[in-house]
Amino acid sequence: MSTHIQIVPDSLALAGAGADWLAHRITRKPDLTILVATGQTPMGMYGHLAARVQAGTLDCSRVTAVQLDEYMGLEPDDPRSLRGWMERAFVFPLGIRNVVPLDDPATFTARLRDLGGLDVAVLGLGPNGHLGFNEPPSSPDAPTREVTLTPESLESNRGYWDGLAVPTQAITAGMDVILAAHETLLLVSGTHKQAILGAALDGPQTPDVPASFLRRTALTVLADREARP
Ligand code: GLP
Repeated sequence: MSTHIQIVPDSLALAGAGADWLAHRITRKPDLTILVATGQTPMGMYGHLAARVQAGTLDCSRVTAVQLDEYMGLEPDDPRSLRGWMERAFVFPLGIRNVVPLDDPATFTARLRDLGGLDVAVLGLGPNGHLGFNEPPSSPDAPTREVTLTPESLESNRGYWDGLAVPTQAITAGMDVILAAHETLLLVSGTHKQAILGAALDGPQTPDVPASFLRRTALTVLADREARP
C-alpha cells in the first residue's frame, strides 16, 4: 500500500491540516464511517472541524462515528469514559447522529460488519507504539477484544484524568478492524513521540510496534517537526 508523510511546523498546523484531510473526505462521501481516536493529539483537529460545522461549511449529519477504545468497569457517566470523551470532543460538536459504541466485542464486530467496515481510521500513536489499546505485542489479525493495559499506557493515560486512577482493563477495536479501513490518518505530535514514530515508519513491521503495520494500509501520517524532525 502507500504511505504519505506530511510534516507540519507545529501542533496548530497539525490541527488545521488534519481537519482539511477529514473534511475533504466527508464532503466527498457524506455518509463516511470513521474510527475516532481520543487522546490529546486529535483534539485541535476536532475543534477545527466543529468550527466548520458551526459556520455551515461542513455537514457531518450522515457520518457514523465508531469508538476506538474504552476502559472497562466504569459506570456510563464516569468522567473517564472514552465514549464520553469522544462524544464531547467529536460526536456532539460535529452534529453526528450515528455512533457505534465499543461496549462488547461481539456486538461491535457485528455492527461494523453490517456497515461494511470502516472508510477512515483517525488514530493517535501510543508512546509504546499501540493503536487504540492494541498493546505490544499485537499481531495484524488481533481481533476486537479485552486487554490489560501496560504500565506505559497506564502512565501516559494518567495525564488525562487529573488524579483519578486509570482503569487497568480496557477493550479495543482490533488490529484487524483498523488495518481494514480504506484509509488511515495517523496524527503525531511532540518530541516524546519521535522515537516511536521512527520505529513505526522506518523499523521492521513487528507486533512489538503495532503501529508499524499501518504501512500495509493507505496511510497518511501527519506529524509536526518535533515528532518528525
Ligand atoms: C492512548 C489511547 C489512544 C491514543 C494514544 C495516544 O492511550 N488509547 O487511543 O490515540 O494513546 O494518545 P495521545 O494523543 O494523548 O498522545
